[in-house]
Amino acid sequence: MTQPERTGKRRAKITGTGMCVPDRVVTNHDLAKLMDTSDEWIRQRSGIVERRFIEPGQMPADLARVASERALDAAGLEASELDCIVLATLSAQAEFPGTSFFLHEALAAETIPCFDLRAQCSGFGYSLGIARSFVESGQFQRVLVVGCEVHSTGIDLSDAGRDVAVLFGDGAGAVVVEANEDDADPSAILEVRLHAEGAHARRLWIEAPGSGFTPVRISHDLIEERRHFPHMEGRFVFKHAVKRMPEVLLETLHAASLKLEDVEIFLFHQANLRINEYVVQQLEIPPERCANNIERYGNCSAASIPILLDEVVRAGRLERGQVIAMTTFGSGFTWSSIVARY
Ligand code: UT7
Repeated sequence: MTQPERTGKRRAKITGTGMCVPDRVVTNHDLAKLMDTSDEWIRQRSGIVERRFIEPGQMPADLARVASERALDAAGLEASELDCIVLATLSAQAEFPGTSFFLHEALAAETIPCFDLRAQCSGFGYSLGIARSFVESGQFQRVLVVGCEVHSTGIDLSDAGRDVAVLFGDGAGAVVVEANEDDADPSAILEVRLHAEGAHARRLWIEAPGSGFTPVRISHDLIEERRHFPHMEGRFVFKHAVKRMPEVLLETLHAASLKLEDVEIFLFHQANLRINEYVVQQLEIPPERCANNIERYGNCSAASIPILLDEVVRAGRLERGQVIAMTTFGSGFTWSSIVARY
């Protein structure tokens, strides 16, 4: 073990994981019936084969609730034992107060604090970093961290939006972060590194509804101009993702006094399988050490990493005491990496 671990100090560990995706499977062929695209184009460019979309009436907090209950169950906790809920999303259930409050209601979480965190596809990394600080500082003992997205109701499923619409899916993932004061237990979130570069905020964004760029938040004109749909400069984003993810991963490992070889499993944001293949190749990571599920779920933004983490844990690919690295990149731009001893 190269990392001395910070014994004697209050540490934060992940004690439970959970996920939930809607039952409705939408294949590339299904999308090709709605817009000018093809299964071949989507697979070749992104690796995606299918994604999940909610059914009418299903809400973000419904997915978040199931994912949270599974994480709580895995941690052996009741919602009433939580001290705080942090929920990362870019597709809030309501413009305000967001999604976390509806999850709070669904979990009957009494009067504990909750809030939505907006760091888009890096939202889970940012939220986990904050949960760790809450726990390490002693402010909270048990924090529920959730990534939750419903993209399907907000993407442009016409030819005009095909570059973005084919990439996204709905889902939620959750983890419970708890204090670990047992020196004999090595499990801990070891290091967290968060970054942003606002100069590129307009390269991947939804402009409306918003309070700044238009005279009113939403209008018929804005809708006709399709400015309420996400817009992305795909190639520009791709180039930054393949630069920033390796950079922040190495920075975080260095801070944890760990090497790439010490990591049992790498999770990268699920935006594009080609991005992750490129990063793995660049860093000479054996491909079997990198888990992906984008082919089944598409890009679930803040939910991608916690969904993948839950799958990895439940498949037995990660055991207690092993090191996991989780790395994100997304709109903002934002990027982050978290290295944890599970
Ligand atoms: O989650 C946040 C982070 N997001 C990302 O990291 C995404 C990063 N970007 C990407 O993953 C890739 O840029 C995309 C998958 C979005 C696009 O792949 P690309 O190889 O960069 O394609 P492109 O945008 O350069 O478009 C190539 C062609 C264009 O046609 P022309 O101009 O060559 O005739 C597009 O109009 O592909 C066309 N195209 C499509 N064709 C069929 C764009 N979208 C589609 C589509 N189906 N859905």
